[in-house]
Amino acid sequence: MSVTATALKTSRLDAAYREKFAGSAKLYERSSQLFPSGVTHDSRYLQPFPIFANEASGSKKIDVDGHELIDFWTGHGAMLLGHSHPAVVEAVQKQMAKSTHPGACHELEIEWAERIRRLVPSAERIRFTNSGTEATLMALRVARIATGRTKVIKFAGHFHGWHDIVIISSEPPHPATTSANGVATAAEYDTPGVTPGVYGDLVIVPPNDLEALSKAIDEHQPACVIHEGNGSRWGAVPARANFIRGVRQLTQAKGTVFILDEVITGFRVAPGGFQEVCGVVPDLTTFAKVLAGGLPGGALVGRADLMQVLAYGNPLGKKMKHPGTYNGNPLSAAAGIAALDIVATGVPTRRANETAKKLRRDLNELFAKLSVNWIAYGDFSAIKILPEYEGPRPDHDDFLPYNGDWRQLDRKFDAALSQAFRCALLLGGIDWMGWGGSTSMAHSDEDVERTVAGFATAIEWLRGDGFIQ
Ligand SMILES: Cc1ncc(COP(=O)(O)O)c(C=O)c1O
Repeated sequence: MSVTATALKTSRLDAAYREKFAGSAKLYERSSQLFPSGVTHDSRYLQPFPIFANEASGSKKIDVDGHELIDFWTGHGAMLLGHSHPAVVEAVQKQMAKSTHPGACHELEIEWAERIRRLVPSAERIRFTNSGTEATLMALRVARIATGRTKVIKFAGHFHGWHDIVIISSEPPHPATTSANGVATAAEYDTPGVTPGVYGDLVIVPPNDLEALSKAIDEHQPACVIHEGNGSRWGAVPARANFIRGVRQLTQAKGTVFILDEVITGFRVAPGGFQEVCGVVPDLTTFAKVLAGGLPGGALVGRADLMQVLAYGNPLGKKMKHPGTYNGNPLSAAAGIAALDIVATGVPTRRANETAKKLRRDLNELFAKLSVNWIAYGDFSAIKILPEYEGPRPDHDDFLPYNGDWRQLDRKFDAALSQAFRCALLLGGIDWMGWGGSTSMAHSDEDVERTVAGFATAIEWLRGDGFIQ
């Protein structure tokens, strides 16, 4: 069955969107005949149709109709330096002419790994993967082999990629439950395609709750605890440094492996990642995105004694298999080296964080001025928009809506409003990633001004069509 564009709830916004993005509409007709829902990543799904991009440079992308859009996807978080950074482009072009896949060890993979180790002291040993999903898959297996245990503890709503065990409870809705810790069990989540055999290996605990974590570790004796950088889905329910330090102490005291999933936060929130911000040393860390400068790539890094399960002839006598045709690919290595050299200056992190802070503040001023029941919040270079918000307006940058209550922050919002919100922003020249966006080093004060103006236009559209009051 093919999927065709269906209309937004009302005709005014829908008609304007279809007219402005006519070239994308045409491509969507074709892509719908090929890809389920016409897309190659679930997050890009949008009704009546998503935009199709032709080019991207700095903080902007250009769609197939020639519109310049201020981009807050930043390549799903990968493009901290902005799109097509000249140093990355040059490095990749040079390597392209030499070899894209020698099918051999090569010096660039060493140089790439040496840079990681300089920035992240916990990276005693490193293995490259092709994605963040592969990195978290590897992390769990390493922890299981090293400890001889099977269970995994994760936090409700945390996203670690899409392999069987971690995809459970990776987004709302969070089912109502009578379980002791107030979080649904793996079996209560709706995760089609994941077999009941997997459920028993997963223990889900509430975010930011050390007491629940401590009890769960005692009861289940897990191989590992995995935590997403600074909280579920790029900090929608932010975790703060004290909590991460608590997780480190608990896991150490109770002898379980602590995996910090820094696929998003790595090299972004600080050159040494969230672990640098918190002053902790995880046992294992997963990276991707910024790591490979916008090309595909990931890594698992960590304690040498744990990572040795990947080595031939290790003292455990159990070697974890790790093939992967594109592991440590030279193009990704070239891009990663160029990117990490710039990350090491500290400039990308500082600029992206400052711009996001300004944008959160200016958006909150706009929402107050226009009396919209939305707020902007988030840490570092993330900007989350919380619609249908009832509570005090933020008065400082550390403000946590609903005092951080994860069930209030991690809700599923009205689908029609969510679609219309993105379309209305696109009409105003802003490409926003769902309800959240990220800044890059390339976003400027002028981009912030234009983005606030774009939000004002979007609010008019949404009000005009009755989506919001
Ligand atoms: C925290 C986190 N872990 C893992 C992943 C999966 O990474 P990938 O999309 O490269 O498989 C993501 C992707 O967004 C992520 O945000």
